[in-house]
Amino acid sequence: MSTHSEQPRINVRTLKDMKANGEKIACLTAYDVSFAEVLDQNGVDVVLVGDSLGMVVQGQNSTLPVTMDEMVYHGKAVSRGLKHAFLILDMPFMSDASVEQAVHNAGRFMKEAGANMVKLEGGADQRELVTTLTQLGIPVCAHLGLRPQRVHKLGGYRVQGRDSEVAEQMLEDARILEQAGADMLLLECVPADLAERITQQASIPVIGIGAGKACDGQILVLYDILGISSGKIPKFSKNYMQQADDIPLAVQAYVSEVKGQIFPSVNHSF
Ligand code: KIV
Repeated sequence: MSTHSEQPRINVRTLKDMKANGEKIACLTAYDVSFAEVLDQNGVDVVLVGDSLGMVVQGQNSTLPVTMDEMVYHGKAVSRGLKHAFLILDMPFMSDASVEQAVHNAGRFMKEAGANMVKLEGGADQRELVTTLTQLGIPVCAHLGLRPQRVHKLGGYRVQGRDSEVAEQMLEDARILEQAGADMLLLECVPADLAERITQQASIPVIGIGAGKACDGQILVLYDILGISSGKIPKFSKNYMQQADDIPLAVQAYVSEVKGQIFPSVNHSF
């Protein structure tokens, strides 16, 4: 019997084909090699080393304190655990404050940590940066909607795009970022109908977290699905340990519900 780890490595083309074929993309975060192996061996397509590690691993109040060195450290560990899944690393706060800094830091992710793609928070204002990274051969995932690195500017973690002006701007941002060369979009805490419009408009995969079931794939924070995050689990997440006897089975249940379009339900959407 072939295992997931014997399957070929997922790449940007595989992910685009999955969108084209209507196969939902199952993504989770990971921060260390042991969990990375569990995700890799239980059907997860994309693993993100998110700067959420600042909150769920380090106990910080926000993602802002996370440094490049910390991301590289966790990225290297996760990378060692993956044989099949696609690896994305999150550009931490201020690591992409200028194009020069972003090129240097994204280069570190690819060279030192074995990333397959970098994720950066930003709208059309990041167009030049996305173009430059793409021209250098660095695939980019652009993170729209709720951008946790902007929590102080936003005045809290809130759903983005409820009013029509912001919604139209997000559609435009998505279009511009794809044109600039982004290979993936991530939508966080966006009304389901807006996420559906963006997903239909885009020819690149759109991954949602709190963005409804129409997205091409879903991502959640690993510790939320294992029920070990401190504090209240967000509305858009689900504790899969409540229906599984162990962690690999919980991961399999998540993957199966994403692929089967059972998760997210309307109760997990805005
Ligand atoms: O940092 C992170 O884990 C993320 C996900 C919530 C998408 O950006």
